[in-house]
Amino acid sequence: MSRRPLVAGNWKLHGDKVMVRGLTDAILDALTPEGVTEVAVLPPYPYLGQVQALLADSEVGDRLRLGAQNVSVHGEGAFTGEVSAAMLKEFGCEYVLVGHSERRALFAETDQLVADKFVAAQRFGLQPILCLGETLEQREDAITEAVIGRQLEAVVAQAGVAAFENAVVAYEPVWAIGTGQTASPEQAQAVHAFIRRTIADMDAKIGDCLRILYGGSVKPDNAVELFNQEDIDGGLIGGAALKASDFISICQAL
Ligand code: PGA
Repeated sequence: MSRRPLVAGNWKLHGDKVMVRGLTDAILDALTPEGVTEVAVLPPYPYLGQVQALLADSEVGDRLRLGAQNVSVHGEGAFTGEVSAAMLKEFGCEYVLVGHSERRALFAETDQLVADKFVAAQRFGLQPILCLGETLEQREDAITEAVIGRQLEAVVAQAGVAAFENAVVAYEPVWAIGTGQTASPEQAQAVHAFIRRTIADMDAKIGDCLRILYGGSVKPDNAVELFNQEDIDGGLIGGAALKASDFISICQAL
């Protein structure tokens, strides 16, 4: 079993051209050709072309992957405001988030829509990063596994377990996102093991190779103990991804 560690920086709705340039350059400066950890940044749509150009100009540009935070289920047509997977691909994206809890909660994305986005991303060769997570109330009601299981099953039903060969899963407890409250390494490990087991029960090899990232208030000072857990293969970083030195230390923690 070899799972290549991945750290992805989710910039959310932050940035301008100056910040995008500074942050991208700082990350590129810190990357070494022999580094084993895969590093990705997920800027807002309008900055994808700018980051793509910065990567093309850099000697280590191929060490930094590009991704988007959202994708349309549609390929083309009269869908004002939407961005297709093919467009993301043309701007150099390899990854795209689907089912981030902010999309589920604030933009009413259902399990079915998330599954459709997962399929649309893969149709154009993007690797979806499927985000799963329970709310605080659900954790207190001890239904974490039921919630995560349901979110995962919706995608498996639509895409098939084989699709997880070209996908990443991110466990992001909703109560830990942007709150400064992190899941303990043991809490995170338990859910990661559950996710891996669920997939492995359908296909042992795919379950074994599946990269499962942890997200939710990952910071330089808690990254090491989280990443030390057996089933945590990297991180999906929000707030700390906006500060180059924090993001770089988190990558180095892997
Ligand atoms: P956070 O965000 O690191 O700021 O908690 C993580 C995410 O939402 O992907």
